[in-house]
Amino acid sequence: MDKVITIAMPKGRIFEEAVELLRKADYRLPPEFDESRKLIIDAEEEGLRFILAKPMDVPTYVEHGVADIGIAGKDVLLEEERDVYELLDLKISACHLAVAGLPDTKLNDVAPKIATKYPNVAAAYFREQGEQVEIIKLNGSIELAPLIGLADRIVDIVSTGRTLKENGLVEYETITEVTSRLIVNPVSYRFIDSRINEMVSRLTRVVSDVK
Ligand code: PRP
Repeated sequence: MDKVITIAMPKGRIFEEAVELLRKADYRLPPEFDESRKLIIDAEEEGLRFILAKPMDVPTYVEHGVADIGIAGKDVLLEEERDVYELLDLKISACHLAVAGLPDTKLNDVAPKIATKYPNVAAAYFREQGEQVEIIKLNGSIELAPLIGLADRIVDIVSTGRTLKENGLVEYETITEVTSRLIVNPVSYRFIDSRINEMVSRLTRVVSDVK
């Protein structure tokens, strides 16, 4: 019997699209994917085990080899810079990372405050712009920060733009486009490359159909 391949899946907004993509690629996933709160789900007939992780943690599981494969947003990969191979752009959960804030405000402080879940991405971006900023790390509801005077700008994901709009914020700059990627542990890739490559080719076929 082949080794079971472990896949780290991101819980939350990417999850459903990722499950749909795997099913389109003819992976038979058990009904627990649709209703359960289990954190480990086996798809025995496929020889796959799924672990359901916080999106920001997926590259960590893959780097440490407790998951062979993972599905992670490009935002998370840029932020975490883990030692993993990025094999395929799955083109799901498209959004972008942006700088946003209250309208008609200029950044003329000595060190404007930037609130974000992505401190490394934000620091690198403002360094490239030659701007000295103070980064304030938050874990969610980032849009609150400029509304209550914690920060002058935020760096965050914009998907539909609704959260910015409904909170009276505007986008100033796009940092980068984001989609989800299939990542793999380098050692797993060396030792179980044929099954991983089969997964990549099955997913590649359906990715081009999904927009
Ligand atoms: C993300 C992101 C924005 C929002 C953008 O938050 O941080 O707040 O979605 O989506 P929109 O452009 O479609 O409105 P998420 O819902 O993941 O929760 P969080 O506040 O915990 O980060």
